[in-house]
Order: sequence, then C-alpha cells, then structure tokens
Amino acid sequence: MSPKLYDLAPERDFVLFNPETKYLILALTERFKELEKVKGLKATETFHLDCLAKNLGQSPSIIEVADCLYNNQQLKWNWKDLLPVVLADCLYPFHADSYHHSVRMAEIVQFLKEEYKQRGFANFPDFGNKDFAEITRNLEMTEDDWACLLAAAYHHDGGKMGLPVGFWNKPGEFNAKEKECRKVHPGLFFPIGEMLGVPLKVTALNIAHHYLNLGYPNNGLIKCFQDIIFEPKFKVILIMLITLDCYDGMRGPRDYRVNLFSHDQVMENLPQELGQMGTIFMPLVELVNSSAIGRQLYPN
Ligand SMILES: [Fe+2]
Ligand SMILES: [Fe+2]
Repeated sequence: MSPKLYDLAPERDFVLFNPETKYLILALTERFKELEKVKGLKATETFHLDCLAKNLGQSPSIIEVADCLYNNQQLKWNWKDLLPVVLADCLYPFHADSYHHSVRMAEIVQFLKEEYKQRGFANFPDFGNKDFAEITRNLEMTEDDWACLLAAAYHHDGGKMGLPVGFWNKPGEFNAKEKECRKVHPGLFFPIGEMLGVPLKVTALNIAHHYLNLGYPNNGLIKCFQDIIFEPKFKVILIMLITLDCYDGMRGPRDYRVNLFSHDQVMENLPQELGQMGTIFMPLVELVNSSAIGRQLYPN
C-alpha cells in the first residue's frame, strides 16, 4: 500500500467531510439536533445512514472514533486496525453469513497471492480459458495490489449494515422491492471509508463490487471514483474481486438463497452472473476448487 494512501490525513476537519460521513458521525455520537442541520441528503439516504449508525454503534471503538472526528482530534488507530473491528464487532452480529462470506473471500485472496508468489500467473492452469492466459501474460500484481484486493475481500460488503437488522437474514428469495433496496449496499461503504481514512483504492473496489456486472450503485458515486475504477490495472483487480464474489455468493450458504450450488452448478451459472464483464478470471475459482483450500472452504 503506498504510504500516501496509507496514512491518515494529518488534518481531518469535521466540517470538510461529505454530508453522508458527517451524518454518520453525528448519528454514531447521538448528536440528534445537529443531524437535522446536515444538508443535501434525501430521506432514503438518512434512513440507510441511521441503520448504518445503529449497526456500527455496536462497537464502542467506532463510537470513540466518531467522537474524535467530531472534535477534530487525531485518531489513535489506523484504518487497517479499525476495519477488522467493524468486521468482528458489527458485521458478525449483524449478519453472520456475510461475515463468513468475507472471511472465505479473504482466505481465497491469500491463497491466490501465495500461489502467485510461488509460480507467477504464467504457471497457473488456464482450465482451457485462453483469455486468462492472455490477460495474465503481462499482469504484475504488486504487494500494494494484493493488499487492496485483500482489504476489499474482507470489507466489500460492509455497507450491508446500512439496511435494517434482519433484512439479509430473511429466509427465501428477495422480492422485487427488496432486490431494488439491496442495491444501496456498495455505496454505503463510502461514509465508512471516509470516516476511518480508508485508502481511496480500497473504497473504490468496495463501492464498485457490483458495478461491472450488475451496474449499481447508480447514484453518482462511480463517477466520483471513475479515474480509479477505469484505470486498466485497477479494473482488472476489480474484475478479480467480482469473480470471487459471484463464485462465493453462489457457493457459500446464505439465508436468501434457497439452494446451495455445487462447484459445477456454479461454473454453469457464473458466466451469466458475470455478464458483460466476461469469464477471464474463472480459472482462479477452478484453481481454488481443485486445491485443498476449496475442500476446506466448501466441504459440501
Ligand atoms: Fe455485495
Ligand atoms: Fe459479497
């Protein structure tokens, strides 16, 4: 991770934060009168930010951080220390399936990083996918790239906490209205990222983790991050993240998924899930499945 993105800005003035982040900080610290003065947010946005504050408020550490930011005090913790707190204190009790999904995704990224370091992409099996060989021929993944991908694997779904408790636990398929509603979750990472000083590259991966295949969020955030998202190397990393996410989304247990898919069933459905983004990184999940880690993460 480059030092510039790593460090918290030396001066983080509360009044300079974006309205979403200001609102989240005020809600977390229960400054209800000041909440009404935050301008530029729609009723649906404040509804989701209230949910997010309620769920992040499960962690005393995050409330303390919000209080420091309100008072323009320097944070004692780095984002790399704070995000795991969010994962364990807030996401786990909010929706355990999403927590386990994040942990599996991170295990997979760590496995792929080790494989890459040992043999390089050139010696990865392509499982008959010639596009994979083509795209990886000149693809060099730096420590910084792996660190971003790993952080996104753990935290891409943090914005799910911006929906009411129980939303993701509802058994059975989502109805049309719920499907529409869940589209807010990638964008809700934005105020978390700004609050905790998360590097923009990691925030961009999280915000765009459904964008290239499903086209959301469509609330203008992608435009703000487009210089990062559409930079060719970054886009490749994003496609890797989305491919792993779609795979685990179908393979791992979720309350809202009626049937658990086998590896073969997932591979059959994956091209459709990946949409226009294409199947170039499907060999990565083939490799996971054919390795010990696949049997450990997906025993059924
Ligand atoms: Fe997601
Ligand atoms: Fe996900």
